[in-house]
Parts: sequence; structure tokens; C-alpha cells
Amino acid sequence: MMTHQITLIPGDGIGPEVAAATVRAVDATGAVIEWDPVEAGARALAEQGQLIPDDVFASLEVTRVGLKGPTTTPVGGGHRSINVALRMKLGLYVNFRPIRMLPGLQTRFSDLPLDLAIFRENTEDLYSGLEHEVVPGVVESLKIITEKASTRIARAAFEYARRESRRKVTAIHKANIMKMSDGLFLKCCREVASAFPEIQYNELIVDNACMQLVMRPETFDLLVMPNLYGDIISDLAAGLVGGLGIVPGANLGDHHAIFEAVHGTAPDIAGKGVANPTALMQSAVLMLAHLGEREAAGRLQKAIRHVYEAGEHLTGDVGGKASTTGFTDAVIRHL
Ligand code: NAI
Repeated sequence: MMTHQITLIPGDGIGPEVAAATVRAVDATGAVIEWDPVEAGARALAEQGQLIPDDVFASLEVTRVGLKGPTTTPVGGGHRSINVALRMKLGLYVNFRPIRMLPGLQTRFSDLPLDLAIFRENTEDLYSGLEHEVVPGVVESLKIITEKASTRIARAAFEYARRESRRKVTAIHKANIMKMSDGLFLKCCREVASAFPEIQYNELIVDNACMQLVMRPETFDLLVMPNLYGDIISDLAAGLVGGLGIVPGANLGDHHAIFEAVHGTAPDIAGKGVANPTALMQSAVLMLAHLGEREAAGRLQKAIRHVYEAGEHLTGDVGGKASTTGFTDAVIRHL
């Protein structure tokens, strides 16, 4: 059996709790993983004086694959987001977030068979961090949209749609106002769409998309969008299927991949042992599939679904009473 080396970044807040739970579950699948734990984030800054210490990049250079817990980014001033830095430095231009209903989970939309895929551009837009004060009281923030990045996210979305037999791709934009930047994004999507005639293609303005996602989420299939809309729509979509404790994610580039949940460090529940590790476990399912460990990925996904179906060992955010460990033990029993 092949041994895989994986860089493990536990992160801040609930990060170490959900990361430990996920490592236990992945190890229990029988896949042979050699974890290389490294610190990044607020704790790394406090302890080592660097947000992303050099050993993080050194490890990822060897392993090429990371599993990452959330990391703190201060609001307003303070340090830059480590996610943004990692994504840019490693060229992780695709942010893929599958939004699926888990069996047995009661949400406002539980009777709908939701299965959406979000493709968020991950390297530019307003996340370029180019901000400056023009004159006192006036601040400028630059929104960068390039043909290169827009085309490669659109291509990733359509190639996935073809591979997974998806029927429709919706591009989300605000090109009625940002005619040039979002206009360029749409132009790139249309060009890529023309090479995939079997896949239906449509466009929606982001505000209308939000309304329709809440009223008729089942009419969506695959969504592709620039960075900021992707950030907001991901959380909205997470709300449709039971919240941030559920939804996994993958940051993909040509040479590296980092798997992480959509949620943040959840400072309100950190250290209490009650965080839901499902989102990071489902990110690990994506990671196992990426490594070619399809059987282990399938077993872990199935075990998670079993625990939700049974409904006895769920965490508080999804209406249960179990601890992080209680949920994890149940998943491992089903493996
Ligand atoms: P958040 O996602 O940490 O929390 C929002 C709400 O969801 C909270 O009530 C939290 O308790 C709940 N929640 C999130 N994940 C959960 C889980 N696994 N189980 C149970 N409940 C969960 O968002 P917030 O509060 O806006 O951000 C907190 C910090 O996280 C900030 O510093 C932010 O920059 C950072 N962040 C980091 C991300 C990353 O590293 N990938 C992504 C998003 C935010």
C-alpha cells in the first residue's frame, strides 16, 4: 500500500480540535498517511514570530498536499490573511466547495436534494490586498480581474462539470455595474462555455443569485464566480445544508492542493470540545480522492453519512449533544 506524506496545519481556534478528529478518522480508513504537522497562523506568529514559518513551505514543497484547519485573520488592521498568502504563493487558483445535504439532518431545505458545486476564483479580485489612502478620508481598494485567472477558473469548472456529468454552469457577476472587471470575467466564461456545448451555461447578477439561492436552491447545479462573491455565496450555500460545520473545500493549483473547511476559527466555541469536525472530515474525503485513495474516501464519506442518518452522535451546531470526540468515535465505529 502506498504511503502518502501530508502537511498538516492545525491552525487556530477550533482548528487543532477538528484537525485531531480528522486525523483519527483518516487513519482509521486504513489509508497510510505520514502526517507532517507544522504551525501557521496566529499561534505561529506569537510563538515563532512568523505567520507562515519557512517550514510550512518547505513541507508543502515535498508533500504537495496539505490538510489545513482555519487560521485567524484580524479585522481592520493587523496581519494579512494567511489563506490569501498561501493561495497566492502556491498558485492555488481553484477554490472548490461541494454543497450537499447530509441524510437525516433537519434544515429548512432538508426535503430538497441539494447538490451544488461552487468554483470560486482564489487568487485575485478584491483579495489582491492592494489598498491605499489617496488623501485623508479617501481609501482606494483595487479589484484585479485578469483574463488568465478568469479563464483558468472557468475551465476548471467546465472540466469538472463534464467529468461529473453536471448539466448546468452558472456564472455569477455584477457586470452591470463593474462593466470592465466583471465584464472580462464573463467574457472568459463565455469563451470557455463555447467549448462545452453539452453543458448548459447561464449568467446571474450576484444579488439576484442570492435571492434565488434562498428561494429555489434546487435549480442550481455548478456555480463559478470571482473571489469575493465566492466567499459570500459559499457561506450562504453552507446555510442551506446545515451550516458551516458541514461544508468542505479544496484549494487546487497545478502543483499543490490544500484541503480545508469553509468555516473559520469559531472563537465562540474554541477549546470547549464541541466543534463539529464534519467539514474538515469531508475536506479529507476530497483529499483522499485526490491522492487516488478512492476506496478510503468512499468509506469515510459513507461513515459520516451513517452517523448523520442515525442522528445519535451529532454536535450542537446541527441539533445534537455530542462532543467533537463523541462524533468522531461514532464515525470511526462506522468505518
Ligand atoms: P467562523 O466560521 O469562525 O464562525 C461563524 C459561526 O459558525 C460561529 O458561530 C461558529 O461557532 C460557527 N462555526 C463555524 N465552524 C463551526 C464548526 N466546525 N462547528 C460548529 N460551529 C461552527 O467565522 P467568523 O467568526 O467570521 O471568523 C472567525 C475567525 O476565523 C476570523 O479570524 C476569520 O478571519 C477566520 N476565518 C478563517 C478561515 C480560514 O482559515 N479558512 C475562513 C473563515 C474565517
